[in-house]
Amino acid sequence: MNMPANTEHRLDDIETGSVEQLRELQLERMRWSLAHAYNNVPFYRKAFDDKGVHPYDLRTLEDIKNFPFTIKSDLRDNYPFGMVATPMRDVVRVHASSGTTGKPTVVAYTQNDIDNWASVVARSIRAGGGHRGDKIHVAYGYGLFTGGLGAHYGAEKLGCTVIPMSGGQTEKQVQLILDFEPDIIMVTPSYMLNIADEMERRGIDPRGSSLRVGIFGAEPWTDTMRTELEQRMGIHALDIYGLSEVMGPGVGMECIETKDGPTLWEDHFYPEIINPQTGEALPDGEYGELVFTSLTKEAFPVVRYRTRDLTRLLPGTARPMRRMDKITGRSDDMLIIRGVNVFPTQVEEQILHIEALAPHYEIHIERDGNMDTVRVRVELKMEAGTVGDDVRVQLAKQLQHGIKTHIGISTAIEINEPGVLARSEGKAKHVFDCRNA
Ligand code: DLL
Repeated sequence: MNMPANTEHRLDDIETGSVEQLRELQLERMRWSLAHAYNNVPFYRKAFDDKGVHPYDLRTLEDIKNFPFTIKSDLRDNYPFGMVATPMRDVVRVHASSGTTGKPTVVAYTQNDIDNWASVVARSIRAGGGHRGDKIHVAYGYGLFTGGLGAHYGAEKLGCTVIPMSGGQTEKQVQLILDFEPDIIMVTPSYMLNIADEMERRGIDPRGSSLRVGIFGAEPWTDTMRTELEQRMGIHALDIYGLSEVMGPGVGMECIETKDGPTLWEDHFYPEIINPQTGEALPDGEYGELVFTSLTKEAFPVVRYRTRDLTRLLPGTARPMRRMDKITGRSDDMLIIRGVNVFPTQVEEQILHIEALAPHYEIHIERDGNMDTVRVRVELKMEAGTVGDDVRVQLAKQLQHGIKTHIGISTAIEINEPGVLARSEGKAKHVFDCRNA
């Protein structure tokens, strides 16, 4: 089929419209979504009634702050399908995210939900510079996790050729990248590093691969990591954000022309920032916890869902929709070490400032009497792998100093040979907190 050339890169109307148009659409959709949740999910009816609010009370978008929050344990309490707002015969897909404890959180989609999800992911890939005809290697896991299938449907909708590799089998990942010559890869940033290591182990320069763009998400990563990935792979490294409860990947995506944090697809997901301690709504620009109200979801509407992700909202640049800053971390990933709040991303940044160190790391915390002790395990880069003990001591001191000065905690540093630390095939595990063991 021949597509007229000028329709191939066309943005959705809402991506080029005015902020006023966007707000009008949001209000209309939010009214529908609140009524839909209230009328069809006993949990929401009770929560609204308990708070003395009714969907009719929403007159402006700001009125959303009078509605109750939804938290992860509400979803668990209604396991598996208690939050579904449509008859189960209209549900065409479920996904689930496995928490470390207890039951998984189950989410559901109607055919319209799947279509909308594919549209926002297609829009995301396009914002990342992808277009019809691109080959996309998907290395997010397929299955209950939303990453693989979410990326897959969006890439197909945009008219790309999808290579549904899923996570794992790192040697095969490399082989298929060499043989199939994809233009774009969708993968967690930590697994990208693992794949790049495997290329180098085989004597292949990752910069010479066919890849042009990496669409990285599902875990926090820093701007310093962007520089590392871009230089090492010779690609544009872009941030895609999402979570299962709100949809999956594609709640927001960074635009290639600005690379200034994910643009939130606000015509489907209404964002707020709140003070995580008090629940008070905060103005744009202030840091706090990200909260979403879904505007179009049929099977699984969410009202003021608390993501536990910490960031801030920023004005739109490449699009009329607002952006989010890179996520510092989740509130439940924040470590409190001798009274100091520490996010793994802060440690990552210090490691990446040292040329000879690889971006793989583990943070181990133990309790010694009443004292928390922190050990940071890092690795030398492949090309720095043969350095002497004096250089290692020097590197350890340098990292220790960086962490002490910028984060404020004392650490023991362990410098390892390349390849010693466990590698991620999906979301990386950086923290090993043994204080309560
Ligand atoms: O991780 C969905 C996804 C898949 C997003 C692929 C992007 C790419 P969950 O497993 O439910 O869903 O985990 C959601 O992961 O609340 C954040 O804490 C974290 N997260 C997701 N994307 C980013 C990102 C998917 N770009 C949780 N930056 C979210 C930082 C992210 N953290």
